[in-house]
Amino acid sequence: MTKSKGNPLRLKGFKILLGLTGGIAIYKAADLVRRLTVDYGAEVQVVMTASAQKFMSPLVFEALSGKPVLTHLFSGGFVGTRHISLAKEADLILIAPASANIIAKTVHGIADDLLSTIILAGWHKMLFAPAMNVNMLENPATRTNIEKLMKRGVSIINPGEGLLACHDEGKGKMASVAEICEAVEAKLLGQGLLTGKKVVVTAGPTREKIDAVRYISNYSTGKMGLALAMEAKKEGAQVTLITGPVSLDIPRDIDTVKVESAREMLKALLNQAADYLYMSAAVEDIVPEEIIHRKLKKEFLPNVIPVKKAPDIVSAFRKKFPDTKITGFSVEIEQGKENSLYKMETKGLDFIIWNNPETEGAAFGHDTNEVTVFSREGKEWFLPKDTKRNIASRIIKITTGTGA
Ligand SMILES: Cc1cc2nc3c(=O)[nH]c(=O)nc-3n(C[C@H](O)[C@H](O)[C@H](O)COP(=O)(O)O)c2cc1C
Repeated sequence: MTKSKGNPLRLKGFKILLGLTGGIAIYKAADLVRRLTVDYGAEVQVVMTASAQKFMSPLVFEALSGKPVLTHLFSGGFVGTRHISLAKEADLILIAPASANIIAKTVHGIADDLLSTIILAGWHKMLFAPAMNVNMLENPATRTNIEKLMKRGVSIINPGEGLLACHDEGKGKMASVAEICEAVEAKLLGQGLLTGKKVVVTAGPTREKIDAVRYISNYSTGKMGLALAMEAKKEGAQVTLITGPVSLDIPRDIDTVKVESAREMLKALLNQAADYLYMSAAVEDIVPEEIIHRKLKKEFLPNVIPVKKAPDIVSAFRKKFPDTKITGFSVEIEQGKENSLYKMETKGLDFIIWNNPETEGAAFGHDTNEVTVFSREGKEWFLPKDTKRNIASRIIKITTGTGA
């Protein structure tokens, strides 16, 4: 059993739209992009106003973010209704530095360039880091504008005091890159459905050895489990993924325990007290009665391999942790509902998710899935075909009681 420790890529999977406006503090934004992408693992799309481009070249931010910088409302590779889709796709719209001008435009709903139009469409997920001369900041117009934004629920990272670029002393310095990163993290993770919760996800198949080179296994690839782990992480949980042999690109920030057999998975799982367990691994039902620790020669292979039932992992976990909310998975072709409900009852699950491998684009190996969720209380949700990430997101909402 090998364990790889998580690292600080806490914002992996999040999309941040970073708006840059015309102020000297823009030089700090280069480091901000580097920190958000490299250290936090976020995807950053930079949008620059015309004034911002007078201070720094988009090239710097293209190199650091690894994406083209967007500058114009009506030109670029693809225009369409890009301003709307950019606002929709972003988990957060961060304006740093935020000029007095962009703050005023936001308050009045002015949309006369790409950035201000995106802001108008994505106003509910804004974070501003104002930066300006002390007199501009203390101007009643700016003060009132900032107050208005705050009253509307827009988050503001207060500027600090000190020697300003114009050599004046006072308030107006943009918050430090570290402070902005912390505010971004708090905004993205602090309000997650699973903030402060421990979530364990099992994924993939198990391999039950027959001899040194042969094993019994199944077609599970672990994609659904990984999608659940990534969505739980996005919702602010502390996540541990216990996975059988899979060839997936697991983000380094997800604490991962790699196991091979059902017995190893059981051992790993019983070490993990959790608020939520998503048991998406396809644990083999049968294991050879005895493992031959050398390679059996072909001519000595038995006609029959005696097998026994694999340990009942989820029942053992339930016995040890009676309070964990457990979501199990069932793979059923016939009488799916009846068999799933029976499994939920006998194993003490709170929810069960029925996959039908005969549905096109569902269950093993696909990037999509189509499932039905049943709860202990007798509720039922059909989740039509969608990406495994979107299905995972809906499963988390259902199992945390926050919607579907
Ligand atoms: C050298 C220089 C520095 C400036 N620094 C700031 C600043 O720190 N904050 C600010 O609000 N405006 C500052 N301005 C003024 C803005 O660039 C100007 O208001 C511009 O119209 C803002 O456009 P934007 O909000 O579309 O980026 C500065 C202007 C110059 C020439």
